[in-house]
This record gives sequence, C-alpha cells and structure tokens, in this order.
Amino acid sequence: MSKSETNPTVLVMGATGQVGGAVIKYLKTRPGIKLLSAARSLERAESLGVPTVFLDLNRRDTIVPALAGVDRLFMVTGYTVEMLRQSKDIVNAAKQVGVKHIVHLGACGDDDTPVTHYGWHQFVERYIECSGISFTHLRPEIFMQNLMGYGNIKVVDAGVVRHYVGDARLSWVDCDDVALVGAIGLLNPERHAGKTYHLGYDAKSCYDVADALTRLLRQRFVYARRPPNEFLKNVLAADAEPAYMQCVQESFELMAKGQLPRSDIVYDNFEKLTAQRPHTLDDFILKHAAKFRY
Ligand SMILES: NC(=O)c1ccc[n+]([C@@H]2O[C@H](COP(=O)([O-])OP(=O)(O)OC[C@H]3O[C@@H](n4cnc5c(N)ncnc54)[C@H](OP(=O)(O)O)[C@@H]3O)[C@@H](O)[C@H]2O)c1
Repeated sequence: MSKSETNPTVLVMGATGQVGGAVIKYLKTRPGIKLLSAARSLERAESLGVPTVFLDLNRRDTIVPALAGVDRLFMVTGYTVEMLRQSKDIVNAAKQVGVKHIVHLGACGDDDTPVTHYGWHQFVERYIECSGISFTHLRPEIFMQNLMGYGNIKVVDAGVVRHYVGDARLSWVDCDDVALVGAIGLLNPERHAGKTYHLGYDAKSCYDVADALTRLLRQRFVYARRPPNEFLKNVLAADAEPAYMQCVQESFELMAKGQLPRSDIVYDNFEKLTAQRPHTLDDFILKHAAKFRY
C-alpha cells in the first residue's frame, strides 16, 4: 500500500459553507487522514481549525495547485450557474493530479427530473464518471437550513413562515446529515465507490413546519404562502446569481402546482450508512430554537 493510501490527504471544498463546514467537523478528529480545507478566504477558514489551501473556482490557475497531493476530494460548488464550468475544471484538475476518489455534493431528483439545476448536477455526475475517478454521488433533497433563510432573506420571521411551494410536502434533510454521509464516503471510498445516495428523511409541508414551530417553541407560527416570483425578486435584490435562482423559482412553481411528484420521498438508507438516525425537522427546530423564537 502506498504512503498516501495509509494516510490519505482529504480536501474539503466549500469548507466555509454549510455542508463542507460540517464535513470538516466530522473529519477533524479522525485519525489516519491528513485533512485540508479549501477556501477563497483564508481568513474565513481560520476558525475551522485545519490547514487551508487557497482555492478560488473563478481563478482556474488556483485549482491544480489546491488539489496537488490530494487523494480524496469533497467536491462542492455554490449556488451559481458557474458551477458547470467550475465543476469541469475541478474534475479535469483532479484527474491531472491523481485524485483517487471524489464525493460530490449534488442535488435531488431522478435522472428524468424536469428541474434545470438538478439536471446540471447530473451532468456534473456524468462528467465525474467519465473521468474514470472513483466517486460517490450525494443527492440531497431540500436542506432544513433553508428555513433559516435564503442568503439574507429570512424564511421564518416574527412567527411567520414565508415560503413559495404552496401546500407541497417536501422531503427535508439536515446539512449535518448530508455531511455525515459525505464524511463516511471520504473515509471508506472502497465501500461507497460507484454509489449514489439520495438523502431526505422528513416529509413535511410548510404548514407542518409552522405547526411544529408552534408546538415546540410554544409560540404561534403561521405559514404565509407566497408566490414563487417573489422568491426570485427578493434573492436577486440580495445579489444572488440570476440563472441558478431562476431554476429554483421554477422548481418552486412545479412544487406549488403539485407537478414535482417524488419531492416528498423519504429514504431509509441513513441508519445503514451511518448507524445513526437522521435528524427530523423537530430535532432541527429544537437545535436552532433561538433563531426562530420571536
Ligand atoms: N439548499 C438546498 O436545499 C440544496 C439541496 C440540495 C443540494 N444543494 C446543493 O448544495 C450545494 C451548496 O452547498 P451549501 O449549502 O453547503 O453551500 P454554501 O453554504 O452556500 O457554501 C458554498 C461554499 O462554496 C464556496 N464557494 C462559492 N463560490 C466559490 C468560488 N468561486 N471559489 C471557491 N469557493 C467557492 C463558498 O465559499 P465562500 O464562503 O467564500 O463564499 C462556500 O464555502 C449546491 O451545489 C446546491 O446545489 C442545495
């Protein structure tokens, strides 16, 4: 066995973000690996407490140097259409430097999904597969963390849950659970190679979310159904990237019209993968109670 296989270097992209940050948290104390985070702001990454390499996906010249010597990669891109070009650059660089396994943070949906940005992630999956690099694909459903807000647009504010999906029931997943499965894929690439994991564990409508907040926090919460175009208007005013957010708006429209069937599907793979039970929305609300109380 080569030295790198006995003490593999694991690089976590998106480490200053929700899922990447949680992957770091899970891997930080694991012996037998050399853990690195990748960030475009070394200052922001400082609090992670692991060595950081500089990586700006919009600066191609930074990608190969960041990946040099890396054996296993947690691959994350942000909420922009540039994810397509960035992902291609990352995979090309990974191939060039000899990365052996990629755990890719993708998005939900079946291969025939009508949702555009889910499809973008599927193109990325296929590109990873074509590279010949061993892979594990993560396909999480809607993040519970979205309830904290989209960028700086609050979703739950002063007892009102404002969302854009009508009365659709959605399958929610805590980013911490996505990260735990990602971390396990990075630690045991042989066991998880070639696998696609759909991650979504609690199917609830936004009416259910408001009821759960009321029950658990003992304050009154109501759901205000808002039109999906209001989502786009608000996030664009807050400087989000238009092409990706247009896709999110379209997905909300499909959900609100009941035209995205399987978006409430709940999976039973988590306990088998992690030997833990997944977080429920109740767990999530209690964990972040202070952020929701008014
Ligand atoms: N929200 C959902 O419900 C949901 C559901 C399924 C899948 N997803 C997928 O989850 C992914 C996002 O995960 P997340 O919520 O953990 O993201 P996040 O919290 O927004 O974090 C994104 C990370 O990527 C980094 N990043 C962005 N642009 C970069 C660039 N040009 N160069 C280097 N780093 C860059 C950010 O760094 P900075 O801190 O410097 O900005 C940050 O660390 C997306 O691919 C999305 O499609 C989301």
